[in-house]
Amino acid sequence: MSASVPAQPDAIDSTFGTVSAFPEPVEGPKIAARNVSVYYGEKRAIEDVSIDIPKSYVTAFIGPSGCGKSTFLRSINRMNDTIPGARVEGQILLDGEDIYRSGMDIVELRARVGMVFQKPNPFPKSIYENIAYGPRIHGMTNSRSELDGIVESSLQRAGLWDEVKDRLSDSGTALSGGQQQRLCIARAIAIDPEVILMDEPCSALDPIATARIEELIDELRGRYAIVIVTHSMQQAARVSQRTAFFHLGRIVEYGTTSDIFTNPREERTKDYITGRYG
Ligand SMILES: Nc1ncnc2c1ncn2[C@@H]1O[C@H](COP(=O)(O)OP(=O)(O)O)[C@@H](O)[C@H]1O
Ligand SMILES: [Mg+2]
Repeated sequence: MSASVPAQPDAIDSTFGTVSAFPEPVEGPKIAARNVSVYYGEKRAIEDVSIDIPKSYVTAFIGPSGCGKSTFLRSINRMNDTIPGARVEGQILLDGEDIYRSGMDIVELRARVGMVFQKPNPFPKSIYENIAYGPRIHGMTNSRSELDGIVESSLQRAGLWDEVKDRLSDSGTALSGGQQQRLCIARAIAIDPEVILMDEPCSALDPIATARIEELIDELRGRYAIVIVTHSMQQAARVSQRTAFFHLGRIVEYGTTSDIFTNPREERTKDYITGRYG
């Protein structure tokens, strides 16, 4: 077989357009969850979830509201630790290291595993300070010019530099919603993370700002392991290469985005992606 022939052809689906087929990653998983359950008090929100999340792809979590997508996402950088009564069982390995082991440095963990939220949440500070804050507290730079360099390169990579380079001292909160979300992505990038978790990052944005974020996610792919929760199946089909379908606190099906959307194995996945429930 010629090397230029893809292992699987791209799948064409009438609902979701072209869903690219991506080969199995060659490297080990960036994140490996093993039998993870998450409780809020007595209530179990996530049950026995195991998944390998690759380094170089975008992984989408889809599923009906309340099925535990955000809860599981937050367990990947221990954000659930901040919720009283929340408890995580099982193991989550980052490059093979258990992030719940005792002695784990949580500040360092959250620098390695950044997060972008549903509602853009820039600090009420200047655009410059929004980006400079993280590198400064993590002691990443020795001089103002180095810090300036990180601010510029982070804004460049987030596709925001040209729009803000002449107004770096304006407040981050004065930007449009889409720009604020790219500022939050730039802020995450500034501390050189390995993983970026995004929880419905476009749900507060208009279609144009959403398209801009989707392009950005595609540009960042390969450089960071990206995990995105989305309620939009079209978005999952457009931006991700792996999709996990959550239902009632469990992963029902996980596979290539192309398989999940064009050839799901499970009846429940089929019902969800065809809009039978949501
Ligand atoms: N902070 C919390 N305290 C108690 N229960 C919560 C909390 N956050 C989420 N839950 C519950 O956990 C379940 C999963 O919620 P969530 O992870 O937000 O789902 P999704 O993101 O898929 O909509 C839901 O039943 C929800 O009510
Ligand atoms: Mg959620």
